[in-house]
Amino acid sequence: MKTEIIKISATDDSGKYEKAVELLKNNQVVGMPTETVYGLAGNAYSEEAVKRIFEAKGRPQDNPLIVHISEFSEIYDLVSEVPEIAKKLAESFWPGPLTMILHKSEKVPMCVTAGLDSVAVRCPSHTVARNLIKYSGLPIAAPSANISGKPSPTKAEHVFTDLNGKIPLVIDGGESEEGVESTVISLCGDTPKLLRPGNVTLRELESVCGEVLVDDAVLNPLKDGEKVSSPGMKYKHYSPNATVTILKGDYKLFCDYVNKNKTSDTFAMVFDGEGNDLDVEFITYGNKNDYRSLSNHLFDCLRELDALGVKQCFVRCPDETTDDLAVLNRLLRAAAFKVIDLKKVLLGLTGKTGAGKSTVSRYLKEKGAYIIDGDIVAREILVDNPELLNTLSKKFGSGILENGALNRKKLAEKAFSSPENTALLNSIMHPAINDKIQCEATEAFKTHNVVIVDAAAIIESGYADTCDKLIVVTAPEEIRKKRIMKRDAISETDAMIRINGQKKDEFYESKADYIIKNYEPFLLENELAELINNIF
Ligand code: TXA
Ligand code: MG
Repeated sequence: MKTEIIKISATDDSGKYEKAVELLKNNQVVGMPTETVYGLAGNAYSEEAVKRIFEAKGRPQDNPLIVHISEFSEIYDLVSEVPEIAKKLAESFWPGPLTMILHKSEKVPMCVTAGLDSVAVRCPSHTVARNLIKYSGLPIAAPSANISGKPSPTKAEHVFTDLNGKIPLVIDGGESEEGVESTVISLCGDTPKLLRPGNVTLRELESVCGEVLVDDAVLNPLKDGEKVSSPGMKYKHYSPNATVTILKGDYKLFCDYVNKNKTSDTFAMVFDGEGNDLDVEFITYGNKNDYRSLSNHLFDCLRELDALGVKQCFVRCPDETTDDLAVLNRLLRAAAFKVIDLKKVLLGLTGKTGAGKSTVSRYLKEKGAYIIDGDIVAREILVDNPELLNTLSKKFGSGILENGALNRKKLAEKAFSSPENTALLNSIMHPAINDKIQCEATEAFKTHNVVIVDAAAIIESGYADTCDKLIVVTAPEEIRKKRIMKRDAISETDAMIRINGQKKDEFYESKADYIIKNYEPFLLENELAELINNIF
């Protein structure tokens, strides 16, 4: 099938619509401009037309369609009852980007509503769309005119890209003004419920309806087996071919993260005026203080990523303020809910024995950080962990166990008897410790923005690579010796044995993002000022 494109403008007369009207009356489907996004239009009363819509888009059968009308009065054919609240909403927002879900009438075929007893109705404001509906004399079922899963089309050429050869005609009515699909509100329950945010905002809905519930699926991924209010919410959506990741946090954090984690494939999508501090290529998608400017260009920019062949894209995203729900909702789906919160910082804290790590740790805890103590984790994982004890006894002999429990002294004797044995112990313990730390950190981030892992062997164990930044605490050898002699009540000889067993200063300092001198005449407060300023 050859796909034709006809340009129609708001001022053109009915003659221009003849071909499209003819096709609709014959149960064919047509690409139709609307103020939100382009729709794939078909006769809502015809099972044949509806089947064609689902086929052309590759749309899952259980995802119902919106029925479009040109005047409010046409709603009476489609629904069993028009509640007062629907009239009020129509008065305020129709014609325009609002879809209402109501109990359906007998006349609407089940294939349109995917078996539901409710129907979605919308009266678009785009003149060409309204004329097309009026001239055809039919209610028009129309989902967005993209291949299922792709970003919705906001230009005729987007429809052509997705559906060329699959449909006979696309009407080019110019670029869609709104840029995101309509707001969907269900009026079937006791309280109106927002199912899909759009450019009629939650605040605007509340001004008419009073209380409006927000469906969980608006900002959250579906849990396994969860039932959805709006079937469209459960599918991967709006996705360019690139892997999209949302980075939460301010622009500076965004740049730091992208520049640090970039590969040759990395690209960025940022707000207007941003991007010059990035070491990667980028596009901008709108003014961060104007949600309409963002929603207008969002889909176009997501499609642009495909046109540019982008493989990995980091995206700036509006906060969860009410007005920005539509953009956030679409971006979350484009990213398959992959969000990295840059305000959450994982810090590694290490240093040689006696350097004063614990003092630094206590100081940062007072500033609000959550501290994970590597020593405690190492001790804890050996309790109630038959699998780990089993591995250790296989490697070091069953003599390290006593009545099934670990005899630490015996293990230490064996493990520290040679460098090979020490390495063997570490190769068993480090991955187990790292796993436990990771679990504890994930939990801690639910309540804290900064989590610090205080561990002597954090570099050797590899966990320092997982941390965003590494803090190394230092002090001269003479001072460290005195501190550990006093702290652990040991002789100078024993203190020196411990000190000499550790790696050189350069080993720590070469990996450090922050080197903290914890000895006189340096003041800890001054030493930590930059870190506190950057992170807390
Ligand atoms: O702006 C728009 O709404 C565009 C233009 C073309 O009008 N249309 C559009 O349609 O976005 P579509 O099919 O891509 O999205 C319709 C959404 C889906 O999430 C669908 O699950 C939901 O509306 N929906 C339709 N009927 C429903 C019903 N009876 N109950 C709950 N959700 C429904
Ligand atoms: Mg859609």
